[in-house]
Amino acid sequence: MAAIVKTPSTGKIPQEANNNDGLLLSPEALLSGDDRTMFSPTLIGQVQEQFNLSLPNDPDGGLTVRPLKVGDYDRGYLPLLSQLTSVGSISKAQFVERFNVMANTRPQAYYVVVIEEKKTEQVVGSATLVLEWKFIHEAGARGRVEDVVVSDEMRGRQLGKVLNQHLVALATHFGVYKLSLECKDKLIGFYEQFGFVKDAGNNFMVKRFDKPEDQLAKL
Ligand SMILES: CC(C)(COP(=O)(O)OP(=O)(O)OC[C@H]1O[C@@H](n2cnc3c(N)ncnc32)[C@H](O)[C@@H]1OP(=O)(O)O)[C@@H](O)C(=O)NCCC(=O)NCCS
Repeated sequence: MAAIVKTPSTGKIPQEANNNDGLLLSPEALLSGDDRTMFSPTLIGQVQEQFNLSLPNDPDGGLTVRPLKVGDYDRGYLPLLSQLTSVGSISKAQFVERFNVMANTRPQAYYVVVIEEKKTEQVVGSATLVLEWKFIHEAGARGRVEDVVVSDEMRGRQLGKVLNQHLVALATHFGVYKLSLECKDKLIGFYEQFGFVKDAGNNFMVKRFDKPEDQLAKL
């Protein structure tokens, strides 16, 4: 099922990525090792302030919302994703390689937002905003919500809500003309609370390539 949110303006290129050769990295992106973040953490603070976002049910400040870090490989990030779908076996080297691909897109296209529980040092929630930079809509940007998941033991504590609020805030900040997602029927009500609606007249279609026979199917 596809759902959609429309925002009024066209895409704004993120400042830290607004260069011609794609090589100018933000200070955060230059951090080495496990502390390297996928995008600038100041962006999270900026949208939290701009859209008055906070974490409910967290009086002790035990949770933090931040960009994905390389070190989240060791903080349960992939086991968390495996509560959503198949992840398979990924070494840290493979993880870092893919992280770098995503972090180095210019203009920045991947915004993986996570929630960390400080006392356990585990990632307990994650959601991804992907920006597609377009010619259409006056060289605008379209946003996609991907891979929303909250760990089993933390569900029902508004963390899914907080993650989606952050993604919608980031998408608004970037001025996307449209933000969309795919979800099961049972989650339509969950996403409606953030302004998503079923896009009447449009259908979500998919061609799968997971099985060998799919690859030989009708071209
Ligand atoms: C879907 C998921 C992310 C929700 O996270 P969560 O942290 O448990 O949800 P929240 O506590 O933030 O819920 C926020 C609100 O949405 C409501 N809600 C939760 N699931 C809902 C549903 N299926 N339909 C309607 N409302 C729902 C809650 O009741 C809550 O309402 P309230 O603000 O009035 O209390 C979580 O259940 C999950 O990770 N599921 C497995 C992975 C998955 O299916 N991801 C979605 C892929 S599209």
